[in-house]
Amino acid sequence: MNITCKDKVFKIDTENTSYVIAVADEEGFIGHAYYGDRIEEAPGYLLRTEENPFVPSKNNRDRGSFMDSFPCEYPGNGLGDYRDGAVEIIDADGHRAINLTFDDYKIVDGKPHLKGLPQTFEKGTGAPLNSGEGKGGENREKTTGAAKTLEIYASDKVLGVKAILRYSVFDDNDAIVRSAELINDSKETVYITKALSASIDMDSEDYELLTLHGSWARERQIDIRPIGYGKTSVGSVKGESSHQEHPFMALVQKGTTQDYGKVYGFSFVYSGNFLAQVEKSQFDSVRAMMGINPGGFKWELKAGESFQTPEVVMVYSGEGLGRMSRTYHDLYREHLIRSPYKDKERPILINNWEATYFDFNTEKLLSIAREAKKSGIEMLVMDDGWFGVRNDDNTSLGDWNVNEEKLPGGLKYLVDEVNKIGLKFGIWMEPEMISPDSELYRAHPDWAIQIPGRVATRSRNQYVLDLTRPEVLEHTWNSIKTVLGSANIEYLKWDMNRQITDIGSVYLGRENQGELSHRFTLAVYELQERLVREFPNLLLENCSGGGARFDPGMLYFSPQIWCSDDTDAIERLGIQEGTSLVYPLSSMGAHVSDCPNHTVGRVTPFVTRGHVALAGTFGYELDITKIPENDRAMIPEQTATYHKYNRLVREGDYYRVASFRENHFFDCYGVVGKDKKEALFTFVQVFNRPNCHSRLIRLKGLDSGKNYSISFIHGAGEGSGEKREVLSGDTIMKAGILMQNPWGDFVSCLIYLREV
Ligand code: GLA
Repeated sequence: MNITCKDKVFKIDTENTSYVIAVADEEGFIGHAYYGDRIEEAPGYLLRTEENPFVPSKNNRDRGSFMDSFPCEYPGNGLGDYRDGAVEIIDADGHRAINLTFDDYKIVDGKPHLKGLPQTFEKGTGAPLNSGEGKGGENREKTTGAAKTLEIYASDKVLGVKAILRYSVFDDNDAIVRSAELINDSKETVYITKALSASIDMDSEDYELLTLHGSWARERQIDIRPIGYGKTSVGSVKGESSHQEHPFMALVQKGTTQDYGKVYGFSFVYSGNFLAQVEKSQFDSVRAMMGINPGGFKWELKAGESFQTPEVVMVYSGEGLGRMSRTYHDLYREHLIRSPYKDKERPILINNWEATYFDFNTEKLLSIAREAKKSGIEMLVMDDGWFGVRNDDNTSLGDWNVNEEKLPGGLKYLVDEVNKIGLKFGIWMEPEMISPDSELYRAHPDWAIQIPGRVATRSRNQYVLDLTRPEVLEHTWNSIKTVLGSANIEYLKWDMNRQITDIGSVYLGRENQGELSHRFTLAVYELQERLVREFPNLLLENCSGGGARFDPGMLYFSPQIWCSDDTDAIERLGIQEGTSLVYPLSSMGAHVSDCPNHTVGRVTPFVTRGHVALAGTFGYELDITKIPENDRAMIPEQTATYHKYNRLVREGDYYRVASFRENHFFDCYGVVGKDKKEALFTFVQVFNRPNCHSRLIRLKGLDSGKNYSISFIHGAGEGSGEKREVLSGDTIMKAGILMQNPWGDFVSCLIYLREV
C-alpha cells in the first residue's frame, strides 16, 4: 500500500492494483488516468490531453469538446460535459453549473472518520458512528500506519463551493475506498441536487455490466448485460437499498469467469436510495458512477456547512470474479463489521415465524424450545405478533407492549422459562413502522411520513415513522430500549417491511423535503448505533421483508442480515450465490425450514436444506414439534456439523466451482482455510441427468504442494462420511476429484478436505 504524488500525478497503490489521478492544464482539471493491475510508473500521458482537442489553455475555442471528452475524476455539470455528472448544485441565483478544479492535496496516515455514516476503517479501529468533527476530515482515527488516505482539495472558483475527494487504502487489501465532501465556503445558501460518491471515466473495452437484480423472495440474482451507448443504470428510490436492485455493480470484461478476466467492482456503503450507472459516450469511453440517488434529492447547504457522501468501495481484480469476491469478503470482515460476534460462532437459533406465524402463545413457544434443546439448538427467537393486538399484519406496529393474552406473565416470564430450558432468547421488532390501527397512530397521526392533503399510501397496511423528527426518534429509541431491557434478550431481529412513499415530513421545512430520504437513513443509523452502544453483547440481525436491506451500511451495525424470506434450498442457491459475490458467508442469514416450502411449494431433502444453510449463519425456521420424525432425528447431527465447520465457513476464503445458474444442472462452492490446511465444499445436484453417471470436479484454492484426505458427507453429518484416498492439492485442482452423480433431484453432499 502506498500513495505518492509527483508533478500533480497521484498514484494510489494496493498490493496488486494501481489507481492514477492527474491534474491537467493551468486550470487544474482533475482527471482519471488509470485503474487496473499494479503499474510501477504513472506517466502523465495516460490522461492523453495532448491529443485533440487539447486542453483549454492551448485551444480554448474547443473548450466544449474538451469538457465533453475529458476523463474526469469528479465531474460537475452545465459547462460542456454532457455526460451525467457526479455533482449538481443550484446556486443562490438559481443557476445550475459546477466545475471543481484542483487546489491542493494531502496524503495522511490512517483514514478520517466520516461522521454519522457507516464506513470502512483501519483494522481494529472501528469508531462510534458520531465520533469526530465530521468536517474537513479533521478527525482521524488512531492509526497504526495500516491505512493511508489521499485528500484532494478542489473548488468551484465562481460558486465558492469546495470539495474534498478522499481515497483510502489498507495494507492488507486491494480495495480503494472513495467518498466526497462538499463544503459551502460562500456567503450564500446553495442546494445540492446530486452528490455521488465516486465516478470513473475509462476507455470502453467491451465491458459488460453485472448487477444484482431481484424481487421479494428472489433477492440478488446475478444479471449481466452488454454496455451499449447511452446510459444504463440500476437504483433505488424506495428509502432502502431494496429487493429489486442492489447497491453493487461490476464492469466485467466479456468472457470473465470466476478465475479469468478484468473486473471492476463498486459497492456502496449505504442503505437508502442509490444510483449505480454506466454511460458509454460517443468517444467510446465509459463513465461508471455510484452514490445517493439524485431522484427527489435536494439538500440545503447553508454558508459554512458541509455535506459528506457515503463511501464507495472499489475493487479491481485482474483474475476474475472470485478474486473480487474474496477481496470484498476480507474487507467487510476486517474493516467494516464491528460487532464482537464477527469472529464468534453465532448461537444456532430456531425462529417461530414459519412455525406459527401469528398464532402462538407462551406454551407453544416453550414446547418448541424444549424440543429444540434436545437437538442442540441454542436460541429461541420469537418473531412477529407478540405485542399490541397483533394477530395478523394489519395492526399494532408502534405499540411495543407485550400482548399478555398470548404471553401471560409478559416477556420476563417467557424469557426466564426459555432460559431455564437452557436456550437463549431473541426477539423480533420493526421499530421504523407505525400501523394506522395502533395506539401510537391514534395519538400521533402526524408521526407518519406523509404528504399533507393526500391519502397516504399503505403497504402491508402500515406507514413509516418520520424518524427525522427528534421526538419520534427519541420515542422509537425508548421503545426499543424498554423492550430489550425488560428481560434477558440476547438477540434482536430488526425488520423493515415496507418501502417509503409519500415523501413528506411535517417536521422538515419547505426547502428541506428533498432531504427526507437521506435524513431517514441517517436516523436509522443513529438508532442502530445507540442500540449497539447500549447493548454491546446483543446479537443484531437486520432484515427487511427478507433481504431488501442487505447492504454494507447495515453490516456496520449487525454482523449478519436475513438473506431472504425464501428458505427453499434450491432458490437459496441463486440468492446465496449473488449475495456471496460481495458479502462474506458469515453475514448471510440462512435457515433450514419445513417442506413443502412455504414460498415455492418445493419438497427437498432435509439433508440438502441443512447443507445449503451451512453456508450462512445457520438456524431453523420450522415447528420442531411437528416435523417428520426422520427429519427431527437429523438435527443433532446437523447442529454438530455446524459447530465443526463454522469457523472455516466464517473465516475461510470463498471459491465458486460451478453454478446451477449457468449449467442448469448442479451447484458447487466452498471455503478454504486461510492456512489452506482444510476446506469444505458443497455440491448440490439440482436435477439428475440420464446417462451421466460421474463427473470430475476441479476444486479451487488449495495448496498444490499439500496432500489432502477427502471425505464425502452425504448425510446430515459426519457419521455419513465416506473416506477417499489421499490426493495432492495439485491433482485435486488440475485433474479434479471423481464425483459419482447421486440418484435423484435436489441431492447434496459436503466434501471435506484436510491436510495430511
Ligand atoms: C418479514 C421477515 C420475516 C418475518 C416477517 C414477520 O417478512 O422477513 O422473516 O419476520 O417479516 O412479519
